[in-house]
Amino acid sequence: MQTAVSPADHKRYAKCIDVSRRIRWETDRDVIRGRKLDFSKKFLPDGLSKADRLPFLTEGERRMFSQVQGRTYAHMFGLVERFIGAKVLELSRAHWLGDQTALEALVRFADEEIKHQELFRRVETMTASGMPAGYAFGPEPNAVAAVVLGKSAWAVLALTCHIELFVLEHYRQSIEPDPNLSEVWKDVFMFHAREESQHAILDELEWVRENGNLSDAERDRAVGDLIALVGAVDGIVQQQAQSDARYFLSTCGRTLAQSEANAVHETFLAAYRWQYIVSGVQVDRFQEALNSMVTEAQGKRIGAALAPILA
Ligand SMILES: [Fe+2]
Ligand SMILES: [Fe+2]
Repeated sequence: MQTAVSPADHKRYAKCIDVSRRIRWETDRDVIRGRKLDFSKKFLPDGLSKADRLPFLTEGERRMFSQVQGRTYAHMFGLVERFIGAKVLELSRAHWLGDQTALEALVRFADEEIKHQELFRRVETMTASGMPAGYAFGPEPNAVAAVVLGKSAWAVLALTCHIELFVLEHYRQSIEPDPNLSEVWKDVFMFHAREESQHAILDELEWVRENGNLSDAERDRAVGDLIALVGAVDGIVQQQAQSDARYFLSTCGRTLAQSEANAVHETFLAAYRWQYIVSGVQVDRFQEALNSMVTEAQGKRIGAALAPILA
């Protein structure tokens, strides 16, 4: 079934193409530029890593804490961009024989996510080169994608919209204002956010379009799917927080007191929940989009599912 695109939406797809063409970057030419990572600097800002909650760590240990989280950030984006790229290609089917501007916008979106996966693989390899052995990233991107892509498109678009909006939020709130970050990492975040801006607009357009295709009963099931997806993200986050805390404690160069080790575990979990769930859920633009599509009762179901994560 081909979707009719309204003149107003057609303009929004066209605008995304214009901006995407204008800001288009290449990983080596524009982002990496032959540089090496500076391990004397942080990779993630304190606003994301929550390192300032651990006053007993030395400055060097806090830096390492942020570098471990940077490595996981690279893995997490490689993971989510696997299913986002696939989903966008699938959604583009609705425009194959319809509005060719909408089709082009989605093709560019998918192309950019494939490029981002490569960027994050590159930066992960660079990050790994300066860190002690023993780090492990648990989830496998294709296995996660198989689960996500089995859910309703409405729910996947809600999750994706939230992800692309938190990328922008992380950059504006925490990354851009921090003068103490590795230059390469800061550029990775900046170039990534520039393209995610268009993705967030396209997610919203496709999410609303998909919403219009659903009956009330289907939408109610989609809300259940969204709750399941958020639960799956939290499962990944919990597992990786455990793994990263163990890695940090075994490689930081000294044995911390039990209470301090517990605080390291808790802070990894709080930081990852903040980065991958809470910071996106709290974005006004996400709340407004979601609330315009769900009933009050559905909103409450989502709120109840999020409550233990936000606590
Ligand atoms: Fe991306
Ligand atoms: Fe994106």
